[in-house]
Amino acid sequence: MHFVIFSCQLLGFLRVFAFSQAYIQISQEYLNDILIDRAQDRAAGEYNYDYNGDDWTGLCQIGQSQSPIDLLYDDAIKNNTIPRIQFHHYGESLRTPLVLMNNGHTANMVIPPTRTGQRPFITGGLLRGEYEVQSVHFHWGSNSSKGSEHSINFMRYDVEMHIVHKNRRYESMAEASQNADGLAVLAVMFGAQPQPFSQYYGLNKIFNQLPRIVEYNTNTTIPGQLNMAQLLGNIIVGVFYSYNGSLTTPDCAEAVTWTVFPDVINIPERHIMKFWQLKDSRGTPLINNYRTIQDTNQRPVYYRGVSSLFL
Ligand SMILES: *[C@@H]1O[C@H](CO)[C@@H](O)[C@H](O)[C@H]1NC(C)=O
Ligand SMILES: *[C@@H]1O[C@H](CO)[C@@H](O)[C@H](O)[C@H]1NC(C)=O
Ligand SMILES: *[C@@H]1O[C@H](CO)[C@@H](O)[C@H](O)[C@H]1NC(C)=O
Ligand SMILES: *[C@@H]1O[C@H](CO)[C@@H](O)[C@H](O)[C@H]1NC(C)=O
Ligand SMILES: [Zn+2]
Repeated sequence: MHFVIFSCQLLGFLRVFAFSQAYIQISQEYLNDILIDRAQDRAAGEYNYDYNGDDWTGLCQIGQSQSPIDLLYDDAIKNNTIPRIQFHHYGESLRTPLVLMNNGHTANMVIPPTRTGQRPFITGGLLRGEYEVQSVHFHWGSNSSKGSEHSINFMRYDVEMHIVHKNRRYESMAEASQNADGLAVLAVMFGAQPQPFSQYYGLNKIFNQLPRIVEYNTNTTIPGQLNMAQLLGNIIVGVFYSYNGSLTTPDCAEAVTWTVFPDVINIPERHIMKFWQLKDSRGTPLINNYRTIQDTNQRPVYYRGVSSLFL
């Protein structure tokens, strides 16, 4: 009897030995979410960025609603009555610890519920329904190239962060990615600045852990409290581009409503350089992990915001 209870407790928690010399307990629920996210990434098969995705097959090659694209202010349908994006539970502290992992393609963080058990979600913009946050990851360049995926008026930025959300109507990411309204991704641009005016507590915490996940398949926990709102820095969230597109990694599922904020978060270059140190599953530098710009194919691109705020 005692033995059964004891092993249930053992199964319930995985103890991770953190660098702080302290044991941190990862809940089974969060661990499951991480394992599912890993399985989803692995299901796409082996891929790399040697040709920035030009060698990826299937829908990545034949799809007509692919991402990223160049977002052009002049070509966008301007509509200031599109609602703002509403952020729900974005300000609530997430359950700790947060796990940041090098999955060979990016630095990825599966997002746990908040401390009160809520899943942060978004509504508004051109979204219909509620989209729950799933994970956050980054795309970057190298010491000689900028690495955002989308470009805005033909301009690339140093780093692009993706906050991936799943429509609540679907049970899993796998199911959501098979539906045109399955996913909503928020894209945030970062630019290098020698002496940025602002410090971003939450983002700094993440960037500071990057040297701990240099090798493929390694992970680390992020100390302290973090909430989703911190990841947005202080960008103007009322101004954005939105369009229907795809995942930018295999299988390039055309299931994403993109919301791309043109306002840029300025961070010190020393943080951006930390991304360039990561390695992929072959042990080669994980740099330039962005996909080539795709054809827009006459898709409507919407722009919400006041044009004078456009920099
Ligand atoms: C602007 O967006 C609003 C809200 O999405 C919509 O009701 C309206 O029809 C749009 N107007 C134009 C001209 O597209
Ligand atoms: C840039 O990185 C490459 C390898 O990734 C290296 O060979 C080169 O020396 C670096 N250049 C500078 C200016 O740091
Ligand atoms: C993180 O890495 C450790 C090994 O350092 C491993 O035991 C653990 O399972 C990993 N955690 C996750 C969530 O993958
Ligand atoms: C995306 O496609 C759906 C139809 O599948 C359409 O109703 C919606 O307006 C489109 N959204 C955008 C931003 O183009
Ligand atoms: Zn991405």
